[in-house]
Amino acid sequence: MIKKYKFGKPFETEAVVKEIPVEAGKPEIGEISAEEGFCLIYKMTDELVVYGLGEANRGINKRGYKYVSLCSDDFNHTEDKLSLYGAHNFILLSGESQVGLFFDYPAKLTFDIGYTRQDTLAVTCDDADLYLYVITGESALDVVKQFREIIGGSYIPPKYAFGFGQSRWGYMNAGDIDSVVEGYRGNNIPIDMVYMDIDYMVDYKDFTVNPERFPDFKSYVAGKKEQNIHLIPIIDAGVKIEDGYDIYEEGRDKGYFCKREDGSDFEACVWPGWTHFPDFLNKDAREWFGSKYKVLIDQGIDGFWNDMNEPAIFYSREGINALDECVKETAKTKLDAKPGKLEEHFNKLQNNHKDYERFYHNVNGEMVRHDKVHNIYGYNMTRAAGEAFKKIAPEKDILMFSRASYIGMHRYGGIWTGDNKSWWSHILLNLKMLPSLNMCGFLYCGADLGGFGDNATRDLLLRWLALGVFTPLMRNHAAIGTRDQEAYRFEGIEDFRHVIGVRYRLIPYLYNAYLKAAKENDMLFKPLAFVYPEDKHCKQVEDQLMLSDELMIAPVYTQNATGRYVYLPEEMMFVKFMQDGSLKKEILEKGHHYVDVALNEVPLFIRKGCRIPLAEVALSVPEIDESKTMMVGYEM
Ligand code: GLC
Repeated sequence: MIKKYKFGKPFETEAVVKEIPVEAGKPEIGEISAEEGFCLIYKMTDELVVYGLGEANRGINKRGYKYVSLCSDDFNHTEDKLSLYGAHNFILLSGESQVGLFFDYPAKLTFDIGYTRQDTLAVTCDDADLYLYVITGESALDVVKQFREIIGGSYIPPKYAFGFGQSRWGYMNAGDIDSVVEGYRGNNIPIDMVYMDIDYMVDYKDFTVNPERFPDFKSYVAGKKEQNIHLIPIIDAGVKIEDGYDIYEEGRDKGYFCKREDGSDFEACVWPGWTHFPDFLNKDAREWFGSKYKVLIDQGIDGFWNDMNEPAIFYSREGINALDECVKETAKTKLDAKPGKLEEHFNKLQNNHKDYERFYHNVNGEMVRHDKVHNIYGYNMTRAAGEAFKKIAPEKDILMFSRASYIGMHRYGGIWTGDNKSWWSHILLNLKMLPSLNMCGFLYCGADLGGFGDNATRDLLLRWLALGVFTPLMRNHAAIGTRDQEAYRFEGIEDFRHVIGVRYRLIPYLYNAYLKAAKENDMLFKPLAFVYPEDKHCKQVEDQLMLSDELMIAPVYTQNATGRYVYLPEEMMFVKFMQDGSLKKEILEKGHHYVDVALNEVPLFIRKGCRIPLAEVALSVPEIDESKTMMVGYEM
């Protein structure tokens, strides 16, 4: 059952697409005060598990920490971070009863889940203007499914997007991309996508392609398609301010950029230098920006990733002016008089939330200050694209995923979880986010495999790929300046060929499991306790997941480990994909086990009575011969 409550004057985020009548009064859940700001206090019993929050830090069970919904460009995902790139305000209180809460509120919202007081959940925000949805159901999954039904169906990517993709910030030109393709194809490692980061553009200008780096781009794209390689360019939120640049001039002339209070266009520095932010909350601006994807679609492009759409701000005009003042002041005094002040100013420049109070959106003629709707900016950038794709190329499925997001965006695209690091702990963080993201409708997701920042090692990449073979988005991506981490760069290439090859054997299964989850508003990845609610051990398991209805996954995520402990809630068949293409199978009974998993093996567990199709290894998705799949299973 779903009940909708209204507090104050909520902003219509369009996260929920189903009409639900508003209840009178307050919900019977904890204590709510909505006089000055909003606050919900709920006493948590000892056994209560709190799930949800989509792309958030820490565990599958969110208890014991604090989380702030505030889309943030932060490349350092350490344990103390309260906000990442997404804002997904859905939690599920799972104890004796199962209650889902969705706070439809597009500004900063804090979830204190036993941080201040161990037994207390406190959800707070500054303005008491929101919708609160309270969902009760028979089981945790039932609550999730009801929620997913009201927020609308999840985005379905083209089938090729289930292949493996290679990315790196630093591929400068066609030659660099050619050598990646050659590295994979030449070594018989399967691949379907090569990503184009910001260097393909002219001076980081959206919807331009540098003709010196990519002469005759259209034929280049077509040539790559002949090799079954899709090129996937990045699109950033900020539009470079430059006379003669059509997108800038059109946006300026039509008034489609976010404005300061005095009506001038807000200026912020991002990759291209000074930019304006398109007003994605304005329907006309959204349509206009969306229509620009056609420039690249016309050249054969059929996939994109939307970035820097929190929006990320290196510094604003106001920020730099204040720094300037401070520099002048400091220069007047003795140089060592105020170094602290200068440093403080400097450190406050990037992603300073003061800047989000400096610009406005035009929402149906009303000026809305950005900080009040901050969390739906990236969502609306991706919506702009998704809505435009239907007009530009209605017959095509186009790949789209975004960095910033809010619930509702799951209808238009997937997400990648941003700038992680080549750290073992981030393999586990990747795993933990998957079910939480699925609860919030995001099915097409993945992390930068191998890690974005810092230097990857061979063993870390192999272990991470062995998780990545199961995530719908399977992309290796790294930052400029880090160690090369394409699969063919390391010794023992055959191990990488094998692990990525396993993905291609699983694609017929994974693709159908994905379609089924999307159609039935189901989760592709579930915490074990969703499937075995009676089993007390399952509530504790934070490093294994159920995958669709047939499988359990338990990747190895520790350095130097030659295997791992695993908990089986029932008898299962432990299957390892071996280097020689064979499968090693063993029936393991319910309980705790230590399983050996070598670096070049991919482990999975098949549930009793279940079977899955396995294809033969192919070098790209269209080359998978579905008529040659074999069934493997643990049939009774
Ligand atoms: C951001 C993105 C990253 C990209 C980089 C350069 O940090 O998160 O994926 O490589 O910008 O475009």
